[in-house]
Amino acid sequence: MKLLWAAVLLLAAVAPMCAAAPQRGLYLGAAWYPEQWPEAQWDRDLELMEAAHFNVVRVGEFAWSTMEPREGVYELDWLERAIALAAKHHIAVVIGTPTDAPPAWMTAKYPDVLGMNADGRWREHGGRRQFNYASERYRRFCAEIVAQLARRFGHNPDVIGWQIGNEYTDESFDPATRAMYQEYLRAKFGTLENLNRAWAADCGPQPFTDWSQVPLDPAGGGPGQLLEHKHFVTATWRSFQKNQIDVLRPLIAPSQFITTNIGGLAWSDNWDHYAVTADLDLASWDDYVGQGHLDAAKNAMLNDFVRGWKRQNFWVMETEPASVNWAPINNELWPGETRALAWQTIGHGADAVLYWQWRDALNGQEQYHGAIVGPDGQPLPVYEEIARLGRDLEATRAAISGTSPEAKIAILHDYDSRWAIDFQPFTKLYDQQQVLLRFYAPLEQIAERGGDAVDIVDPNVAPLDGYRLIVAPELNVISATLAERLVAFVRGGGHLLLGPRSGMKDENNALNTQRQPGPLVEALGGRVEQYYALDGAIDIAGTNGSADVWAESLSALSPATAVVLRYGRGNGWLEGKAAMIRRDVGKGSIAYLGTLPDAALMSELMTKAATDAGALDPPIVEGVPDGVEVCVRVAGGRRLLVLINHANSTRTVQLKGSYRTLVSPDGGVGSATSITLPAQGVAVLEQEGGR
Ligand code: GLA
Repeated sequence: MKLLWAAVLLLAAVAPMCAAAPQRGLYLGAAWYPEQWPEAQWDRDLELMEAAHFNVVRVGEFAWSTMEPREGVYELDWLERAIALAAKHHIAVVIGTPTDAPPAWMTAKYPDVLGMNADGRWREHGGRRQFNYASERYRRFCAEIVAQLARRFGHNPDVIGWQIGNEYTDESFDPATRAMYQEYLRAKFGTLENLNRAWAADCGPQPFTDWSQVPLDPAGGGPGQLLEHKHFVTATWRSFQKNQIDVLRPLIAPSQFITTNIGGLAWSDNWDHYAVTADLDLASWDDYVGQGHLDAAKNAMLNDFVRGWKRQNFWVMETEPASVNWAPINNELWPGETRALAWQTIGHGADAVLYWQWRDALNGQEQYHGAIVGPDGQPLPVYEEIARLGRDLEATRAAISGTSPEAKIAILHDYDSRWAIDFQPFTKLYDQQQVLLRFYAPLEQIAERGGDAVDIVDPNVAPLDGYRLIVAPELNVISATLAERLVAFVRGGGHLLLGPRSGMKDENNALNTQRQPGPLVEALGGRVEQYYALDGAIDIAGTNGSADVWAESLSALSPATAVVLRYGRGNGWLEGKAAMIRRDVGKGSIAYLGTLPDAALMSELMTKAATDAGALDPPIVEGVPDGVEVCVRVAGGRRLLVLINHANSTRTVQLKGSYRTLVSPDGGVGSATSITLPAQGVAVLEQEGGR
């Protein structure tokens, strides 16, 4: 076991090799469950899909008991027939490995494949995710079913990819996993002295004197213990996944990709998404609105966030056909909104959109969920809207294939920082997704006018050189290595803007002995004197703006460091203190913003930062009307514009340069200098003569 963890820790440290390139092209499809329906009805399903211009289905991810009805008895003929029938309708297949839901015979005979909840209760058969992700026996069962599938379909030309499991979610707290955690700690820290030092155990729990004393459930533990547990969960999901990748790779054609669909609306923080997707060919996620309507800025950000996991285009493996069944109110999206959502994801780098699910389930937890055809197999009202999207994709596929969004501005995000703040938010008002959005929304608006996107990347792994401006809204953990990378970026001519709470912790989630931003204090020539949770808004001097939630008083330590903003009068500890400082360093600069300004002031600050950094390209539109989103994908000399009107009334966009319409609200195609979009309207344009 010691050896195993040494290998896992090594895996985490090396860049993975990916065999297959991500699929090119543009895919539209759905999750299809042929095993749930009489075979005589499959052809009708596929005919309706083909009529809607679908070209992909995902199958199999919950079909283990159909694939292996009894231990060691594999029945895959039905799947082969389903794949062949889909191919007859020009529909390719992604096979989901069924390892999210083991069959009842397995959990009954081998209860150790079941996971244990944190409260000590063993999970039971009946739903999904009952398995134990760390169980060696379960992993052997997974490897065998995956091998059976891969031997059968690994070279089937109608199978284009593989999805491992489904939305990795629940860890296990059983005694065997606890023992594994202790072995993992031993492999990582070597000695208990090292572990106690890293966790500063004498500041809280008192040092551990035996490995067996370290609990797997870190609740109530110190910050170092909490963070290391997340690293273990990440490593365990990664090895759970690798167990299947290692079976698939030698048995499948290099053209077939391997992915997993990430749930939790992309934002879940159970484990590190950069680390887990590093071993995959393609990132994919499940983009649901749930209650209410599309929050365009937030969904844009989440799609950019997903694109940043592997820094390449991705798939939306699941999205809602206008409604879900798990929100407090499962309202239907407006007519046109389902299509607008799909185009937004494509505009931000999705190369596939698959609806969940094709047909209303007769029973089970998913009853009532949005679908495209009803329990009778006939189209529901949203079918026509999705078919329209299918026609859009037919009209744009050739032009869009191979293009991606491009960015000169990156926002930095990493899980250690996310976790460190979430373990100890200090104020319940500190919602990191909202903080990220406060920085992202103005930056996206600024960038889109020039035809650029905003990347969201992990600075520990992403190359930074290509960016002009990088913004780090919540980089709480900055290791010495990361600080060196950031300083090198700045010296080389890049511009770095740090947000509040930056550089407070080291990689063990211990406080730095320097004040914030820790290892960047010297380069910044300034530091944080104290941080404050705010219970109301405070003024920013010399502006009409205010800030809320969090404020840090800053000081400039070097004469070369300028104070950019100060807090206004009447703020007690903060009055007159520096709120933002900035220093030129090498050919670039470092700035530190110690608070969260309101939207107008934030927009001013981001505009200035982007302008000073030379991160803005000349506008490609005359102005972006309120509620309209301009997404741009490029490749070589090609430039594709996706214009989406998220507002509830008509908007007109004046274009600069000459464009050819591929998709327009009135169905017209040809040259265009302006486009009028109704509410939820979409247009797709290609630049004439290249960019
Ligand atoms: C998740 C799952 C799907 C389905 C949908 C319902 O995304 O992956 O199997 O349960 O939720 O919204």
